[in-house]
Amino acid sequence: MKKLIKEARLVQNNSYAPYSIYRVGAAVLTDEDKIISGCNVESSSYGLTCCAERVAIYSAIAQGHTKFKALALYTENGGSPCGACRQVIWDLCGDIPIYITDKNGTVEKTTSKDLLPNAFELEK
Ligand code: THU
Repeated sequence: MKKLIKEARLVQNNSYAPYSIYRVGAAVLTDEDKIISGCNVESSSYGLTCCAERVAIYSAIAQGHTKFKALALYTENGGSPCGACRQVIWDLCGDIPIYITDKNGTVEKTTSKDLLPNAFELEK
């Protein structure tokens, strides 16, 4: 998990966040132990911004990965995933451990299920 957390921290350096100045890095671990990372990318049309978690997960899917074991998230202040990302994490990763980290190296461990209880599902 140390490597996953390190990658999330590293990739926030690539964050494109000129509007919020809030840099986010995320990394997912595939079932084949591959790490795919992503950062937030903002748009001048603010609503088109894509969060780091979704960039990481969508990139992994685009690279052919479909099963995920864990996700790490880095922000300076140890912020939690937004509501939209919680749904996407649930949909595409299922109930996985999530490691939330900050600039001091504090690591908070949670799970997709704890972050999104009673999640929306098309089929039950
Ligand atoms: N952001 C993320 O990347 N992930 C989240 O879970 C919450 C918010 C980004 C979106 C935007 O670029 C910036 O943080 C401020 O909202």
